[in-house]
Amino acid sequence: MIIVPKNIVTVDSKDRILKNHFIEIENGRIISIKKNDEKYFLKNKQRVLRFDDLTLIPGFVQTHIHLCQTLFRGLADDLELLDWLQLRIFPYENAHNKNSLLASVRLGLNELLLGGTTTLLDMGTLRHQEVVFEELQNSGLRAIAGKCLIDENDLFPQFKSDTKSELEDIYQLAKTFHNTSNGKIKYGFAPRFVLSCSEKLLKESFEMKKDFTGSLYHTHSSENKDELAEIKRRHKKANIEYFDSIGVVDDHSVLAHCIHVDEKETELLRKKKIRVAHCPSSNLKLGSGIANIPKYLKKGISVSLGADGAPGNNNLSIFNEMRLAALIQKPIHGAKAMDAKTVFKLATIKGAEALHLQNEIGSIEVGKKADLTLLDLTSNTHSLSDSDDSIYSDIVYASSANSVNSVMIEGEWKVLNKKSLLYDQTELNQNSKAELKKLLNRVKK
Ligand code: GUN
Ligand code: FE
Repeated sequence: MIIVPKNIVTVDSKDRILKNHFIEIENGRIISIKKNDEKYFLKNKQRVLRFDDLTLIPGFVQTHIHLCQTLFRGLADDLELLDWLQLRIFPYENAHNKNSLLASVRLGLNELLLGGTTTLLDMGTLRHQEVVFEELQNSGLRAIAGKCLIDENDLFPQFKSDTKSELEDIYQLAKTFHNTSNGKIKYGFAPRFVLSCSEKLLKESFEMKKDFTGSLYHTHSSENKDELAEIKRRHKKANIEYFDSIGVVDDHSVLAHCIHVDEKETELLRKKKIRVAHCPSSNLKLGSGIANIPKYLKKGISVSLGADGAPGNNNLSIFNEMRLAALIQKPIHGAKAMDAKTVFKLATIKGAEALHLQNEIGSIEVGKKADLTLLDLTSNTHSLSDSDDSIYSDIVYASSANSVNSVMIEGEWKVLNKKSLLYDQTELNQNSKAELKKLLNRVKK
């Protein structure tokens, strides 16, 4: 396949933006990036796809998502974390059966795809995690996912499992799904957060990741002040300090949020090369706080972006996360903080690096997988200047999921001309509505 866009935002080591260039794709990889060549196009006519008005960018990478929560959008508004979990999210997740879970996953994947996201790190669900994996395989998205682990739950005691079966289950799941779909799917060991996990579960799930090369450890950390007070009461330590004391953080650990982090813990983030998944919409909506991302970046700490779950956002669009990641820091750190190019990189190559996938995805370079998004930056809400600088500005400050025209993963179209090739939205909505209704009835019982 030969793709001829208006321009290419490569996100390569020189941050090149190419005009009058095309890319050639073979077996799901980019095999060449060259100057437009009409003679070559004529010779390969049947392989050429022209997108004269569209900007080609790497597919977006989101490093913190809860697919199982998509069904609960709009059902848990205006609450702080612990109430949000206790009164809404845990009861809802607890009521999932395989059908409602599948509806939730499909709804989430379709929204992510239509918004240009091609890779995600998912937190998973307590029960029926195989449903999530099977739909990930079916959809062809690139994902690291894993069963969310809960063996203690004071907030909602019905919603937990026991330590031994949690550990047995994840070993089986990792054996079954890690490195499947041509390596697109990997396992992520996912203890929910300190308050829902015994020390044994946190430690042994971390140890297990060593048996599965390329797998990750993924949890919530340092999100809410009441949560942190309870962690301090139980463990006499701050959140990341506690993780470090039991040996569960390294460069394959992704911590979502990292808002309330002291100096000692910031140093741990840096020294241990821990990955921070920044979720600005969720952090604002749950009233959790504002993470000091400019400080993390200055120290060379890995930062990437995620929408978290639909009931805490209420949207899965990376465009909202990029825009907010930039804007919320400016009143605190000055208008120069978090410029558009920096933020765009958090949503692409930095996301790939966080997941140790930077040799495969995150930029448009020869040898990388063809995970690509085509944007229309020509609408009346975009900049009229055609300068290179205005491209990042247009993407971060002036675009939305609506600006996404087409999406490809490993050389396969998933969205073409704004149409999902995977799912029928009307059908998804009908089915999701029906499943939600049944789920809410189960919650009442
Ligand atoms: N901490 C534990 N579970 C969750 C969750 O589902 N969402 C968020 N934002 N924080 C959490
Ligand atoms: Fe989360």
